[in-house]
This record gives sequence, C-alpha cells and structure tokens, in this order.
Amino acid sequence: MKNALIVVNAYTSSPQELNQPARLREELRLLGVNAEIVPNSPALCGREGDFCVYLDKDKYYARLLERKFRLFNRAEAIEICDDKMLTYLALDGFPQPETVSSLLCYSEGAAPSEELLSAAEALGYPIVVKECFGSLGKQVYLAKDRGELRALSSRLQGKPHLYQKFIGESAGEDLRVIVIGGKTVAAMKRCSETDFRSNAALGGRGEAAEADGEAAALAEAVAARLGLDYCGIDLLYGKTGYLVCEVNSNAFFGTLEKVTNINIAATYARHIVSEIYKNGI
Ligand SMILES: Nc1ncnc2c1ncn2[C@@H]1O[C@H](COP(=O)(O)OP(=O)(O)O)[C@@H](O)[C@H]1O
Ligand SMILES: [Mg+2]
Repeated sequence: MKNALIVVNAYTSSPQELNQPARLREELRLLGVNAEIVPNSPALCGREGDFCVYLDKDKYYARLLERKFRLFNRAEAIEICDDKMLTYLALDGFPQPETVSSLLCYSEGAAPSEELLSAAEALGYPIVVKECFGSLGKQVYLAKDRGELRALSSRLQGKPHLYQKFIGESAGEDLRVIVIGGKTVAAMKRCSETDFRSNAALGGRGEAAEADGEAAALAEAVAARLGLDYCGIDLLYGKTGYLVCEVNSNAFFGTLEKVTNINIAATYARHIVSEIYKNGI
C-alpha cells in the first residue's frame, strides 16, 4: 500500500463536506493507496506521503504543503478559482458575462464610488452582484434598479465583489461540467423554478445531461488554462453560445454521482494515481 493525505478544512463538520473525502479515500484504496483524511494543520508540513488531495481552500497552507507534496488541485489553481474576479481575469479571451470589478475600499462605511455605480449600471438592469469569495449561491445577488444597486454596493463596501451582466436566457438554469485530467467526464443540468440561481443549496434540482461538443471543449480549455486536475465548471446558456459563469476547484460530486450514475471519485482517483505513479503502483 502507498500512503497519501486527503486534507479537509480544519473546522469542517458538515456531512456533505465529509462525504467527498470519504468517497475519494474509498476509491484510492481500491487502487492501492492508503489515503488518510486529516484536518488542515501546521503539523501536516511534517507528515510523509506520496501526494496530497487538498479539499480545503486555505491558500496559505496550500502553498506551504506544496513545498513538500504534489497537491490535487495545485495551490495556484485553487487560489484563482476561489476568487471570482481572479477567475474572470485568468479566463481573459473566454466567453464570459461582461463584468465590472468593485474598487478596493479601506473603510467599510465609505459611500460607493459614483463612477463605479455608473459603470455597473451600464451593464443594464437587472445586474448580478457577487462577492468574490462565496459559494452555494449565497453571496450572489440581483439588483433590479438603482436603489437596490446602491444598497447592495454600500453593504458590500470593504469586501471584494463584482457586477455582472445578467444572462436572462439562463435565468435559473446552468450546466455543471466536471473535467478530470483534461477530459469532460460528466455533466448535470441544474434548474430552479424559484430563483435565478440554480444552486442545489437554494432549491435547484440537478438532472443528468450531455455536455455537447461546444460545452465540453469550452470546459476542457478552461480547466487547461487554470491548470486544474479536477473541477466543476458552471456554464450559462447565452444567446450565441455558452458563457463561463464560475469554476469550482472543489466541486461537490455527491449529487452528480447520484443523478448521472458516473463514478466521479473513481475517475479522479485514477487520474491522481496515473499522475503520481507513472510506472504503476
Ligand atoms: N451573470 C449571470 N446571469 C445569470 N445567472 C447567473 C449569473 N451569474 C450567476 N448566475 C446564477 O447564479 C448561480 C450562482 O452563481 P456562481 O457565480 O456560480 O456563484 P456560487 O459560487 O455561489 O455558485 C449560478 O449557478 C447561476 O445559476
Ligand atoms: Mg456556482
């Protein structure tokens, strides 16, 4: 048996967050790797192992651990995906909704810049407003008019955020595409009848879907640009084709495995093993 680490957040306790490492450990074991699930900690820098599956988003420890281990995903890729504005910038040239970045603000109480509000307003109402750091749809909002835009902007002063063109054709719907080792391996269409956000955590339902040639090629190019071993890419249905909405380096695969019947954990485990043990175990 070979040895490896699966690192989870130091403060994780939700069942969904613990299902992911457990599935990966199970599939790695079948391939001959004993992967220990460990909470993030300074002590890990002194541990031994052939690689580290890093399911945390702590960018500092990712870099510290990368001094010693091959990380899945790599630290830089995790860092870019965790920050929606950095992702937007790294994907320059890819089809994405038009986006305006907030301005760095040192004091939380300051009124939003009028120039910023005007630039956001030029996107046309309603306007999507997103915190750069957020997940499960919880830090994504919609401003229907100037009053709401100003209120949201004031509330988010001091937090990095962005303003984005609302893709009306895709309201409540998107396509989640899983790419592993450069290949599209599964896709799920997510729909919500009650919210413009299709996230499962907000009531969106997932159903198995086919990633057509355009979606697969786009998702694979995005994963390659960001250097991701594993990711879930959210694509919006734009008027003239898909648009990249978001890239999740730690995408949960529980629902996806259920609705598609595709063994995502096994596919990821096989990719990791083939990367690390090029001549077999
Ligand atoms: N520009 C947009 N136009 C239309 N819908 C959007 C847009 N951006 C996000 N959404 C919807 O909101 C959901 C959550 O946004 P996303 O950027 O993926 O943040 P999170 O990290 O919280 O999932 C998306 O899955 C999509 O359904
Ligand atoms: Mg998302």
